[in-house]
Amino acid sequence: MSAREIVLGIESSCDDTSAAIIVDGVQHSNVIARQKVHERYGGVVPELASRAHQSNILPVVHQAIKEAGVLVSELSAIGYTRGPGLMGSLLVGSMFAKGLAIARDISLIEVNHMQAHIIAHFIRYPDRDLVAPQFPFIALTVSGGHTQLVLVKDFFEMKILGQTKDDAAGEAFDKVAKTMGFAYPGGPVIDRLAKKGDPDRFHFPKAKMQGLDFSFSGLKTSFLYTVRDGVKENPKFIEANKNDLAASVQKAIVDALMAKLKRAIRETGVNRIALAGGVSANNGLRNAVEELQHTNQAQVFLPQFEHTTDNGAMIAMTAYLKLRQGFQSNLNAAPKANLSF
Ligand code: KG4
Ligand code: ZN
Repeated sequence: MSAREIVLGIESSCDDTSAAIIVDGVQHSNVIARQKVHERYGGVVPELASRAHQSNILPVVHQAIKEAGVLVSELSAIGYTRGPGLMGSLLVGSMFAKGLAIARDISLIEVNHMQAHIIAHFIRYPDRDLVAPQFPFIALTVSGGHTQLVLVKDFFEMKILGQTKDDAAGEAFDKVAKTMGFAYPGGPVIDRLAKKGDPDRFHFPKAKMQGLDFSFSGLKTSFLYTVRDGVKENPKFIEANKNDLAASVQKAIVDALMAKLKRAIRETGVNRIALAGGVSANNGLRNAVEELQHTNQAQVFLPQFEHTTDNGAMIAMTAYLKLRQGFQSNLNAAPKANLSF
């Protein structure tokens, strides 16, 4: 292995096109192009996502390389998201990565998106000292597509302890926001409104799930009925109650996540916890896990804000760690929409 490992990471699994440069485990750039085209649909439209990736990918990669101040000829390897994700979106990033890897005759490294969300905790910066979690730790990965509790024994030794049986936590945020008429992604909107609302005003039932699994579809339906009944009596119900609705539904989602997280700590005896995924940007969730830290129930690790939602840096970092372990991907490997660990 050469002295300096320069890895380009490409992420295109859902609706963010992102590329990043990691040099010896240190982030030198992380460029993210968010796709505005989905806003008015209340969720990601797969066909539109893959088309937007097509137009974004070249400028995003170019920008990441430029910002990092490296040359394409200096790249040691290219990491790309093989899955899980939307097939049309994954194809764009994987084909781009393969083409460039062949042209430059450098290593191509496939990355599991869910593993990468967790590995984002190990990204270092040139100018900041960050403390990464020690193994073993429990990761709560909460995004628009996934909700998982993972026991992380080592970088690539991860065991899923529990996961959602229906909607993901981020999806629940997005769907209730859509019910209130807000654009996609709804999570940040709910988060903002919740700050001004009363979390005990409305009650949304928590699903009774076995073990460490989650379910959010009942909550979504209960929210829908509350809004429907409210609007029947008062056409201005949503506008008049949006802050309380947001605060109450956010509390219900966060409580459900925290109940299982605490149970996972009890059952495994591991009390280092790391949040990952888009929903880890949520203030209600951040406050709840920080409470665990203040009451000495757990040591808590929160991701850097730019690493909460989908980003190329987490893909480049995971590829860098795989490269160090001598891993190489087969050029024939096809993207997998439901890739597991
Ligand atoms: O990890 P991510 O970028 O994409 C997936 O892999 O799905 O997560 C996106 C999800 C969306 O559902 C979005 O609404 C949610 O993360 N999200 C939030 C917040 N910021 C993003 N949910 C709640 N509060 C937030 N502040
Ligand atoms: Zn994600």
